[in-house]
Amino acid sequence: MADKASIAVVGTGWWATTAHIPALIEHPRVGKIILVDQNPEAARAAAVKYEIPLAHCYTTISEAKAAHPDLQGAIIATTHHAHYPAAKEALDAGLHLLLEKPMTIYAREAKALVDLAAARDLKILMGYTFPYLPTVAQAKHYIDDGLIGEIEYVACSMSSVTYDLLLGHPERFEPAGGYAVTGPTRETYSEPRVAGGGQGVLQITHLAAMMFHLSPGMRAETVTAFMNNLKAKVDVIDAMAVKMNTGALATVGSSGNLRPGDPGSVEVHLHGNRGRILVDGFTGEFFMHLHDGRQEHVPRHSPGYPAATPVDKFVSILLDGAIPLFPGAVDGLFTVELLEAAARSAALNGMPVQIADLYA
Ligand SMILES: NC(=O)c1ccc[n+]([C@@H]2O[C@H](COP(=O)([O-])OP(=O)(O)OC[C@H]3O[C@@H](n4cnc5c(N)ncnc54)[C@H](O)[C@@H]3O)[C@@H](O)[C@H]2O)c1
Repeated sequence: MADKASIAVVGTGWWATTAHIPALIEHPRVGKIILVDQNPEAARAAAVKYEIPLAHCYTTISEAKAAHPDLQGAIIATTHHAHYPAAKEALDAGLHLLLEKPMTIYAREAKALVDLAAARDLKILMGYTFPYLPTVAQAKHYIDDGLIGEIEYVACSMSSVTYDLLLGHPERFEPAGGYAVTGPTRETYSEPRVAGGGQGVLQITHLAAMMFHLSPGMRAETVTAFMNNLKAKVDVIDAMAVKMNTGALATVGSSGNLRPGDPGSVEVHLHGNRGRILVDGFTGEFFMHLHDGRQEHVPRHSPGYPAATPVDKFVSILLDGAIPLFPGAVDGLFTVELLEAAARSAALNGMPVQIADLYA
């Protein structure tokens, strides 16, 4: 195996230039960095900022792979609707993936990627971050050890400061020092044909993936949902009820209408037949109460955001053959199924949607 990883970043907008490219530059086990963006200006601006050779900029993955046969992996950080074609092109080129959320917009697309990766013996790591936090990892450890028993009910709630993005005003979301290089466009998170949805695909994707990560074997079967767009073209407020294949029931809700300064919540509260565990990725809070009376509590604090961790884990996959902690086949696919079914249900004024029908 190579000593250093050669990685392409596909989509060099806000998140890639804020999180992934800096993490690659800092990583001692990353060698060549290739930038791919359909907008050559975005790739060039990122190259200039991070002192990557301009000759390493391309507009398609195929061109990049043809010029650099040593490429091993691609980080897909395009706008949401482009995830599927970009990820497919990268898998076709024989590259392992670090794939940003949501995996795809449609379950059929996610399943096609899972099948293609399996057929080519390639790995897909989803770009989720919250499960790396110590309190979430602790919850996972306790649940895997059977402390709360069989999961019967999950209450998931996420509230965040995303309304301006969903309205198409990324300039109001800009950090004090400005975007690192290129910020999101007005369409990135507000235009359905680009974003593929609103708060669901942007934020609930984190929440639902955390739920599936913490509940091994659980997968949605039937979903009913209501959504409110407020003044946006995409959903801002979501309320979903879910029946799982295990018989467990879940509620999944979210609001994007918080104001700056409010840390919000990304809270998964799992109830089993032996006790319950609550974890919140934004505040770091952890609470466990078992039926035998045992309790543990980590109060709210500022756990930070592990933005660079996905790149580090991806490098281990490429160089050491590590197994993805959040594989596309579970955290990616199951989350897309839930979100697509919820969007379909909301369009039918809350009529239940079967996951199986997404594939009919
Ligand atoms: N994990 C997190 O905390 C986090 C935070 C922010 C964004 N994200 C995710 O990162 C991804 C990118 O979001 P963003 O805000 O950087 O968007 P952005 O609009 O700023 O950048 C996307 C870039 O992708 C390029 N692009 C679009 N289609 C392409 C294609 N087919 N091939 C090559 N390039 C293409 C665009 O030209 C643009 O430069 C999204 O999936 C988003 O949900 C994750």
